[in-house]
Amino acid sequence: MYQPNLYQDKIVLVTGGRSGIGYDIAANFLKLGAKVFICSRKEEPLMEAKTELAKLGSCAAKACDIRKPDELEALADAIEKEYGRLDILINNAGGQFPSLAEYISDNGWAAVINNNLNGTFYASRIMANRFFIPQKSGNIVNIIVNMMRGFPGMAHTGAARAGVENLSKSLAQEWSRFNVRINNVAPGTIISSGLDTYAPPVKALLDQMEAQNLMKRHGTMQEVSNAVLFLAGPLASYTSGTTIYVDGMDHLHGDRMGLVNPFVE
Ligand SMILES: NC(=O)c1ccc[n+]([C@@H]2O[C@H](COP(=O)([O-])OP(=O)(O)OC[C@H]3O[C@@H](n4cnc5c(N)ncnc54)[C@H](OP(=O)(O)O)[C@@H]3O)[C@@H](O)[C@H]2O)c1
Repeated sequence: MYQPNLYQDKIVLVTGGRSGIGYDIAANFLKLGAKVFICSRKEEPLMEAKTELAKLGSCAAKACDIRKPDELEALADAIEKEYGRLDILINNAGGQFPSLAEYISDNGWAAVINNNLNGTFYASRIMANRFFIPQKSGNIVNIIVNMMRGFPGMAHTGAARAGVENLSKSLAQEWSRFNVRINNVAPGTIISSGLDTYAPPVKALLDQMEAQNLMKRHGTMQEVSNAVLFLAGPLASYTSGTTIYVDGMDHLHGDRMGLVNPFVE
């Protein structure tokens, strides 16, 4: 659908690129001519993903935990060595677990905020200071989540992603002087490896939520990638500090208490 050379020779970093949505985003950029760096924490599956992605074009990988600024600095060193610059950062890495809010422990809360909010900020600041600000050009797309009407059953990630959405509004304004755009893609429920991490009862609830969706289905990874490819490139050159929902209107419609109701009724 996009011009085959849309991202020719652009250098793209996809965090969490070894699986699911991140892998799909990486593959899509490669198909459009980009050179892609992926990172995730687990070395072995990361290298397997890199080998597969390298069949599509130039792909490099380094294990990195986005919660650790020193590891992100080392990742920036590796990108600089491999490609000499960075044009686009996709903050996709993240994770959460369903829980009623009253049972979220201090550790559980901190883990999700650290991963989904702090990690995104660390990656953005470090890649901006290393590449985007000196280059006076750059682009960031954050994968957040549909939390427009709150996120009952996953209050920690709702709070973290709302933080990222607001952060992007600040960064978009502050870094416009460096020609850096920052936007978000907010997926609803997307069929991906991320759903495999949920226990069978939660999967059953997701099936119920699918039936409630006005389009009567979950989304695809390609539909998320399509929005990312729009925001990261020249087609969105006058768009910054905003969010595209890829959720079949779940941000407008449907019972947000689906994950909670069965445990409190
Ligand atoms: N699938 C959905 O319905 C959906 C909906 C809305 C939003 N999202 C968000 O979209 C993103 C991708 O989700 P997905 O469905 O593709 O799930 P996934 O397959 O579990 O992907 C998450 C990726 O992030 C990496 N990761 C997690 N924590 C990390 C850390 N601290 N540092 C570096 N890498 C880390 C994981 O690899 P390692 O474990 O090796 O680190 C993995 O590659 C996530 O942020 C997710 O929350 C998903």
